[in-house]
Amino acid sequence: MTQDELKQATARAAIDYISPRLEADSIVGVGTGSTANFFIDYLAEIKGQFDGTVASSEASAQRLKAHGIPVYELNSVDGMQFYVDGADETNPALELIKGGGAALTREKIVAACAEEFVCIADDSKWVETLGDFPLPVEVIPMARSLVARELVKLGGDPVYRQGVITDNGNAILDVYNLKIEQPKDLEDAINNITGVVTNGIFAKRPADVLLLGTSSGVKTIT
Ligand code: A5P
Repeated sequence: MTQDELKQATARAAIDYISPRLEADSIVGVGTGSTANFFIDYLAEIKGQFDGTVASSEASAQRLKAHGIPVYELNSVDGMQFYVDGADETNPALELIKGGGAALTREKIVAACAEEFVCIADDSKWVETLGDFPLPVEVIPMARSLVARELVKLGGDPVYRQGVITDNGNAILDVYNLKIEQPKDLEDAINNITGVVTNGIFAKRPADVLLLGTSSGVKTIT
């Protein structure tokens, strides 16, 4: 199977996972990226089964609206049953690296609101130790160099993601060569740097369920 076919299979599995659990007033948080895009397309098939969504990016909001799926502001919803999103890496504890699509801050906020975080990923994302994928860090633009120097002190090699401005108007540094043995500690340490908005380690709020697309089927890992 191609990587796209694995992404489609895991997105379809997410629909099968949430569909029987949805109520008429359910809110679904929706992530960002190519796997999330497949999920959005399939979610349109069951749009009568729930109230609406909250999107983690402008791109996902537009795609949801194009399907006629209601999109609410996060501040106007009272609870969220599921958050469904992809990942750049996942370890066996379902701690993630996210932010390859630069949406990490809104993704982390929406994930924090959800009762259940369902991660959808193909098996190229599965790792024993996080850090092969360069860690995205969203920074206030004027603090970019300051933050980069502090990231070097933590052992990383930050690279400015040229030409990318996040939905929040900020910059992204991609940090190479981090071997992330203690994800929660590093998540905290980077977030404590002045000028950092957030970083792409999702360890304090890991996924609850991983639907992992493999050539022998979608595995459900909790
Ligand atoms: C977006 O900022 C990311 O967190 C995505 O969820 C992640 O990059 C996975 O993207 P794909 O589904 O496109 O691989």
